[in-house]
Amino acid sequence: MKVLVTGGAGYIGSVVAEELLQAGHQAVVFDNLSRGHRQAVPKNAELVVGDLANRDCLDQLLRSRAIDAVMHFAALIEAGESMKAPEEFFRNNTANALTLLEAMLAARVKRFVFSSTAALFGDPERTPIEEDDPVHPTNAYGESKLLVERILAWFHQIHGLRYASLRYFNAAGASRPDKGEAHQPETHLIPRILEVALGRAEHVNIFGTDYPTPDGTCIRDYIHVSDLARAHLLALEAIENSSPLIYNLGNGQGFSVRQVVEVARKVTGHPIPVIESPRRAGDPAVLIASSEKIRRDLGWQPRFPDLKTIVESAWQWHRTQPDGYGRH
Ligand code: UFG
Repeated sequence: MKVLVTGGAGYIGSVVAEELLQAGHQAVVFDNLSRGHRQAVPKNAELVVGDLANRDCLDQLLRSRAIDAVMHFAALIEAGESMKAPEEFFRNNTANALTLLEAMLAARVKRFVFSSTAALFGDPERTPIEEDDPVHPTNAYGESKLLVERILAWFHQIHGLRYASLRYFNAAGASRPDKGEAHQPETHLIPRILEVALGRAEHVNIFGTDYPTPDGTCIRDYIHVSDLARAHLLALEAIENSSPLIYNLGNGQGFSVRQVVEVARKVTGHPIPVIESPRRAGDPAVLIASSEKIRRDLGWQPRFPDLKTIVESAWQWHRTQPDGYGRH
């Protein structure tokens, strides 16, 4: 298949683009490089620099490249930021996704894999979270993605769109020592901790120590980026026969912020000083996935479920490329 990968210069999109190529598909990366990095795009993928808000550009691209399927990663991702500027999340994540879907409709492209999120669930009523559990986002980021899921359901019903929505829990780790997470600014826990281990920051802040969890800090389910990527390929193949496909993607095991720091101390041998700080707005206390459905339906199995292995892969990347990909 010829697959358009929006956000394919970003952390997860670029790993998926590479897996697509390895599986014998063609990948056209579409990215405005506002957050992504030219160097992260796999060599054998075409890179088109453009913006999802530009409908003409999308129309032209979908037709001229005879695109068969779209994988949509391009989005703003920081939940904390969404509680300061929600309008940017609704514009970039929701409105731009609608523009893309309208362009697909006009070009008769019927296959779509959506990069969704655990942030849909807000504070879950039970753990681990299953796909049909109630959704109540506690931040505008989660809401901006939930709105897309709702649009997708209507496009499926009315226009026959075949789609998969993959709800990632906390993506982490590196697929190779020269290919990893490089956000600017970096707000995610594991890279922030590793910046301290590299001597680029003095301490890591723990955002909230009064959550209703055993050690008072938030619990998350970390999943290796390569395991996430493989789920996309399985989903792309499976939507031929069954749609919609909605899956939670995690390892089914939660780690508190303090536990992640502890694992990183072992991996790096650095004491990693912490400062206990106030809560960050919009953070749910506990997010742990049940991924039984994708295991059962598609035979997905994580290859790197162990948090230490995940942190080790991230550490290799940060140590060998401390400046990430540079500016872009
Ligand atoms: N945290 C700290 N200190 C930091 C950074 C984070 O204590 O310096 C805490 C956060 O408060 C949170 C946990 O570590 O409790 C994880 O935070 P991240 O920023 O790494 O990740 P989030 O859980 O906020 O969000 C990430 C992605 C979202 C995705 C979500 C799904 O950014 O896109 O995981 O769980 F939706």
